[in-house]
Amino acid sequence: MTEELVVTAADGVMEIRFNRPEKKNALTRAMYEGLVAAFDSAENDPAVRVILLTGTGDTFSSGNDIKDFQQRASSRNASAASPFLTALSTLKKPLIAAVNGAAIGVGTTMLAHCDLIVAARSARFVMPFTRLGLVPEAGSSLLFPQLLGHQRASAMLLLGDALDADAALAAGFVYQVVDDAELMTAARTLAGRLAALPPQAIRQTKHLMRRGKPDLATRINEELELFRERVHSPEAAEAFAAFMEKRPADFSRFS
Ligand code: COA
Repeated sequence: MTEELVVTAADGVMEIRFNRPEKKNALTRAMYEGLVAAFDSAENDPAVRVILLTGTGDTFSSGNDIKDFQQRASSRNASAASPFLTALSTLKKPLIAAVNGAAIGVGTTMLAHCDLIVAARSARFVMPFTRLGLVPEAGSSLLFPQLLGHQRASAMLLLGDALDADAALAAGFVYQVVDDAELMTAARTLAGRLAALPPQAIRQTKHLMRRGKPDLATRINEELELFRERVHSPEAAEAFAAFMEKRPADFSRFS
């Protein structure tokens, strides 16, 4: 497994840590593949009762690696995010996120599939898809209006506005906000509490709670289809180039 993902397990809890702090934990193909393998091993290992996701450094994840997007646009490689989103959205064991800073793009959309979220005070949640010439993924076009209401979801998904930790707590998007230094203690306490409960009752309760979204898998696939087209679009090419060249994007020539 790539060193950009650190996976450890103890006392019934598998911890998965995004570990690419020099790139703000932007997710590469190898990291997506590592996540799928870690989820698979957690689901099949009776010793693992809870999965906990977090990141190294000051960012939870800056989302998909934009350089990978550029390479995909030129090589037409298949998305590595797709198997990850399937594994994430069908996990049977409970998933906790400890959000240690900014969560951007898929860094935020993956959180809609977490059962409990603890945020550091420095956390903020941003989905800048439109500004990158893209559309939302991970079922976020369905889940965020349900989770946050249509107006706030529009502000996040259409405008790319950020939600800070306190606003996320007020909106019910996260369960707890704690000081940055307390993040892992708080998240591990929740994980330990879940791990001590009867595992079958926990899995069945999660299943019942998630079953109310019968069209989720269809929406994830519809989004991915559009997303695949958008990655190859001239609008996205301009946005990716602007990011890599550290300049503002100029969308004025597009109609
Ligand atoms: N893909 C690829 N590289 C990324 C990245 C991403 N999603 N996010 C950050 N990086 C890289 C930067 O290019 C920079 O690389 P360099 O040191 O080689 O120049 C490094 O990580 C540090 O990022 P920087 O922007 O200098 O740090 P910052 O603290 O000023 O800002 C962020 C941090 C996360 C707010 C900012 O990097 C950002 O907005 N990233 C893009 C997020 C995004 O749009 N994600 C895609 C969602 S679909």
